[in-house]
Amino acid sequence: NRTGAAAGGLAAALTALALLAGGCTGATGGVRGTPGAAGLRDPYFPKLGNGGYDVRHYALTLAYDPGTGRLDGTAEITARATQDLSAFNLDLAGLTVAGATVDGDPAAVNRAGNELTLRPREEIRDGAEFRTTVRYAGVPESITDADGSQEGWLRTGDGAVAVGEPAGSMTWFPGNHHPSDKATYTISLTVPAGLEGISNGARTARRTAADGRVTTEWRATEPMAGYLATVAIGRYETDESVERTDGTGTGPATGTATAPATPAPPSTSAPPSTPTTVSVLTAAERSVAASSAALRGEIPEILDRQTRRFGPYPFSSAGAIVTRDGTLGYALETQTRPVFPAASFDRTTLVHELAHQWFGNSVSPATWRDLWLNEGFATYAEWLYTEEYEHVPARTHFERAFAQEANWAFPPAAPPAAENLFDPPVYQRGAMVLHKLRETVGDRTFDEILRGWPAKYRHANASTDDFTAYAESVAGRDLDELWDVWLFGDGKPDRP
Ligand code: ARG
Ligand code: ZN
Repeated sequence: NRTGAAAGGLAAALTALALLAGGCTGATGGVRGTPGAAGLRDPYFPKLGNGGYDVRHYALTLAYDPGTGRLDGTAEITARATQDLSAFNLDLAGLTVAGATVDGDPAAVNRAGNELTLRPREEIRDGAEFRTTVRYAGVPESITDADGSQEGWLRTGDGAVAVGEPAGSMTWFPGNHHPSDKATYTISLTVPAGLEGISNGARTARRTAADGRVTTEWRATEPMAGYLATVAIGRYETDESVERTDGTGTGPATGTATAPATPAPPSTSAPPSTPTTVSVLTAAERSVAASSAALRGEIPEILDRQTRRFGPYPFSSAGAIVTRDGTLGYALETQTRPVFPAASFDRTTLVHELAHQWFGNSVSPATWRDLWLNEGFATYAEWLYTEEYEHVPARTHFERAFAQEANWAFPPAAPPAAENLFDPPVYQRGAMVLHKLRETVGDRTFDEILRGWPAKYRHANASTDDFTAYAESVAGRDLDELWDVWLFGDGKPDRP
């Protein structure tokens, strides 16, 4: 949009002049806002996210036409300024911005790369809550990651799947797309007759218009990082139930209680604010609905078992989205409702993605360097699961991982580049760190860490340093040698 860009450029020039003037008359003119930073200086994605504000809520209204691939969107973003702001950025890749307002007044729009700059008519004061509306449209693109995988808005034959780890969500909505800025979401999806639109959280409305188009509204009421937002559009069938997930065995929340499969270990009771029922909604593309039904049905039991190990399930909704093969190349732990290509919908992967709801989704990485806190824990959750329910000791997994050379390419807490973020050391060596921690502090203390860590950083962000400090505080001692060798060490130790 050339006119918009020109207007934005002019507005930027005028503001630069105004800033200069403000500088000269500072003594009498009061404080002038400065633009929010264009990035949060993530070690791997320095431009990802934006400075100067904190998003509280996204209300996304999206209409998609799979035939043309066109997406029409309105993003209403409620945020709080963390500095005086003359302008601020949102991350957005591709698409055309038709217009934007801040608190109802038109804002000047500028685009450069994946940065959308909005300059409100009036400066925003530090601490003020403000509402931005961005109207946009176009054919969303997918992004090829540094590691060669595809993310963003992925077109399927008759619909689309949107996934965003680490930086793909900017292909379908403007936002503060660094995991450190979590917010609640309302996502409304309008799709052609015969299709369904699935997303995160609770399905709060579904209506069919006179022309047959279907609008579905989804609400994610607990904080969510942008990379965990998802949309799946296609011929989906859904199944819904309300389940208990309080670690006392599964069963419908109303109706006859079933006996737990395994006796629950003595546990500290959940905080009173924690929901002990969760609404489970799974969606499967029509052609894979029957073949995925049995495993989808295991979700309540797996969540219940994980609740016993990791503490209360952090969200009020749960489920899964199973897509046809051919588009998505991996499963992703999208919040409350992880998404799986049918070929990856197996019990191990399901256990992994559900464990991410605690590790990664509720406790989110402070930066992308801390990804091992997601993947190491989710991998260790697989080891714990087979140890507890399939009689394969975690030590066996640990020794297998120790023997694989690919796991020694780099230390889990320091991937050399963005293309290595999802490499084996982050997963397997991450899990090995946790197993060594368990062997060092003993099962009792380790169990306390497994429950205490997601409790302490529930719905927040945490770094590697936060984790080592927390583990040491629970263990009551220094664990430097463990971290030096297993978490930060370059080489392979002599013995497992
Ligand atoms: N977090 C996902 C999982 O392990 C993997 C995502 C891979 N993403 C990528 N861009 N390579 O469950
Ligand atoms: Zn994972």
